[in-house]
Amino acid sequence: MNLRLLDRKYLGRQEEPDDFIVGDSGGSYVTDTRGRTYIDFMTGWCVGNLGWGNTEIRAAARKYEGPEYVYPGHLYRPWAELAELLARITPGKLSVSYRTTGGTESVDGALQMAMAYTGRGKFVSIEDSYHGNSIATMSIGASGNRKKFKNLLPHCQKIKPPLDGKALGKVKTLLEKRDVAAFIMEPVICNLGAMVPDEEFVRGVRALCTRYGTLFIADEVATGFGRTGKLFACEHFGLEPDVLCMAKAITGGYGAMGAVITTPAIAKAIKEDFGLYSTYGWHPRAVAVALANLRYLMRHRAQLLRNTTQLGDYFLTRLPGMRFKGKADIRGKGFAIGIEVDDERYASRVGDKCRKNGLLVSAEENVLMIFPALNIARETAERGLDIFEQAL
Ligand SMILES: Cc1ncc(COP(=O)(O)O)c(C=O)c1O
Repeated sequence: MNLRLLDRKYLGRQEEPDDFIVGDSGGSYVTDTRGRTYIDFMTGWCVGNLGWGNTEIRAAARKYEGPEYVYPGHLYRPWAELAELLARITPGKLSVSYRTTGGTESVDGALQMAMAYTGRGKFVSIEDSYHGNSIATMSIGASGNRKKFKNLLPHCQKIKPPLDGKALGKVKTLLEKRDVAAFIMEPVICNLGAMVPDEEFVRGVRALCTRYGTLFIADEVATGFGRTGKLFACEHFGLEPDVLCMAKAITGGYGAMGAVITTPAIAKAIKEDFGLYSTYGWHPRAVAVALANLRYLMRHRAQLLRNTTQLGDYFLTRLPGMRFKGKADIRGKGFAIGIEVDDERYASRVGDKCRKNGLLVSAEENVLMIFPALNIARETAERGLDIFEQAL
């Protein structure tokens, strides 16, 4: 049967798939089955931070000779090594990792941790944000989810952007009742078109959380591992969260994995009530590629972060000079770049036209997103932007 018909019949999807059959990928390029090559400004939505097909990570995947599976209750050295590495690279006192299979499970786990630690059941998050697709993560996401799913978690309050001094006042009003378990946000909000909050807001919320006994959860599922020009986006604000969620680029696309990390004090306090059992959490094969991926990232860290910051600035200076139809709000940090346009159909048409002309960008609702690999060559980035400009 024709692939499109087969897909339509057997795969559950909300949207029709793109007109794009993936064949192969390498570096900042993806090739379709007709042999056409596309510049990749999506990296699978913040997954392939080191580009595709890195020889070192590929070799780790190919050479893997460990056990097929390890039961979560056993001891396994690579788990401890990966957890130790995460403790070393994440901000502040974060040092105890819990093993998950992806972002949703990490955020869900973080919410459970906050409930267990505080004995409270309320959450505060950013309106229209996205933190995953479980019942709990949808509850803290867009309020619009409640129209489709009637029984989401109660007591979830949302702060509407802009995230400035006024928004901080609203957070204070909510937290000062001392019944909120956690405040959660992406430090740079990829899911709201790479919205960068005011530093005053982020630092202010951190102080309020400490004052009122609420945990600050940083969702770095999309921003983690260099995406914004720092290893973690928290670092832009000097933010030390109580809990930090990771996934996506942790393996660079080579395995399904996530992690949620917290401080020793919190881990100790919730030990009785919280374990986060996940059958496939940190599957040994995924751990092997995560270790290779993160060791490579750390060895080349200075150069990768410099490229991300410098070329990110280049994108953010060149994009405003382009002729968009109507208003375009361009924002971002490093290689998390969002362009909010007036018209949803225009965004989708630009995305389609880019693809036809050999460039992959993300177009969701009225936002175009650009997430290049941290090591993209300047020449490739320039060529991609030329295609983008033509598509406008
Ligand atoms: C910020 C953020 N949190 C959580 C998730 C959910 O991650 P996953 O798709 O791995 O479950 C996503 C996915 O896009 C995300 O961007």
